[in-house]
Amino acid sequence: MSQNTTLQTEELFKKIISHSKEYGFIYPSSEIYDGLSAVYDYGAYGAELKNNIRAYWWQAMTYLHQNIVGIDAAIFMHPTTWKASGHVDAFNDPLIDNKDSKKRYRADVLIEEHITKLQEKINKEIEKARKRFENFDENLFRSTNPRVKEIQEKIQQIEERFKNALEKNDLQEIKQIILDCEIACPISGTRNWTDVRQFNLMFATQLGSVADEANTIYLRPETAQGIFVNFLNVQKTARMKIPFGIAQTGKAFRNEIVARQFIFRMREFEQMEMQYFVKPGTEMEWYEYWKEARLKWHKALGFSNDYYRFKDHVKLAHYANAACDIEFKFPFGFKELEGIHSRTDFDLSNHEKYSGKKLQYFDVEENRRYVPYVIETSVGLDRLFLAILSAGYKEELVENETRTVLSIPAALAPVKAAVLPLVKKDGMPEIAQKLWEELKYLGKIIYEDKDTIGRRYRRQDAIGTPYCITIDNETLQNETVTIRERDTMQQERIHISKVYSYIEEKTSIKNLLRKL
Ligand code: GAP
Repeated sequence: MSQNTTLQTEELFKKIISHSKEYGFIYPSSEIYDGLSAVYDYGAYGAELKNNIRAYWWQAMTYLHQNIVGIDAAIFMHPTTWKASGHVDAFNDPLIDNKDSKKRYRADVLIEEHITKLQEKINKEIEKARKRFENFDENLFRSTNPRVKEIQEKIQQIEERFKNALEKNDLQEIKQIILDCEIACPISGTRNWTDVRQFNLMFATQLGSVADEANTIYLRPETAQGIFVNFLNVQKTARMKIPFGIAQTGKAFRNEIVARQFIFRMREFEQMEMQYFVKPGTEMEWYEYWKEARLKWHKALGFSNDYYRFKDHVKLAHYANAACDIEFKFPFGFKELEGIHSRTDFDLSNHEKYSGKKLQYFDVEENRRYVPYVIETSVGLDRLFLAILSAGYKEELVENETRTVLSIPAALAPVKAAVLPLVKKDGMPEIAQKLWEELKYLGKIIYEDKDTIGRRYRRQDAIGTPYCITIDNETLQNETVTIRERDTMQQERIHISKVYSYIEEKTSIKNLLRKL
């Protein structure tokens, strides 16, 4: 029986972090020097899983759509790019320090966490009442119970004040909300806060040898701008007609103030972004279309629906006229996994203004030129990696022993199958090696002949290998092998000549794409 429900969320999260390290998924960066805050390296299985996630995204975007093509732009861009995009002036987080603990926080995160706590109080009241009353009506309870109504009103007031303060960039008011909500520092327990200040998240460096202002360039904080500045190049050379999309995966860098929660918030991370260029006025239709398409893409991985929800943005980014997140139920609660933004013509128009070059599309059907509007889908590869580990990590009691298993979707699993001779004699290793030679074109396949078969199964369970193929005495007699499925531990016997097509059918990204 799965014990995940009995694992406390904090405990589950800690287990995922140590499991990731122990089994070669993720290590702290430069660990021999005690690591670097919020920077991580991917190990043997982590790198495979990451590659598979990226391939699933890339193929879903560029192979399944005739009108989406991919590019690979440089990380360094002309510095004016970031002036035009608004990042130099507006890519800030409001930060606040606690004077006693000397700890630094994002002021907006402190307020959001306070709101989440209030919501949890409401949920507790609802659960208590649900147990007490038969035919419990949650909506009626929410609208009539005085305690719930009081908390709900408080939440609304805070949200309203917070939204206004963000819109007006009123840092004094943000501090006042923190004081009025009596939010205390989790370390010192005091409310002795500094003023709120804005902090730009871009990393700057120097190009060439002369260290003056003109040579300052930035590590890109999003991959999207590489797409915008190449909009006309791609449209012309790939002969694209509106609506069309440009997709890209690659590293992005942000000097995050609150760099906690493992690979959820990193300073160097990878994004998978797609900009969909549309005729002005049609952007809301496409916004709705991409919201649904992206949710479907996530759900095709097979985790239950209650891991996902949409959340509309309270404060729209400087470039957006509509925006929402697909949130995922991480061990520390629902948090953003992917952003879907209607970015208007903000980026292309600003690049026109700053570069003096036209970035317009000639619409043959309408016989007019215009700057297209853009719908963006943007998902963090590392965040999706964490989502897959969090939903996939299970501890089960099997014959009085704990079995740890990573139920990673088979098409994304770092190792597609393991080939295991039951014993190291009677020609079994030779048959297994031959089978490995055949299967190796399907992805990473492990050959292993050390330890008892039970131990070898457990090791494969722990890295999420969906199928273990065992060569045993019966193989010698009738050329059949057993295939053990990771999640159910069920075994079936098939002829050795059928193994290739069996593993291909169950683990190929192609078949995952067919669900879309
Ligand atoms: N181009 C739009 C953009 O960058 P965003 O909401 O700031 O939008 C998009 O980022 C996605 O990138 C997020 O949904 C998240 O998955 C990922 N992401 C953002 N910051 C991150 C960080 N510090 N560490 C890991 N992933 C991050």
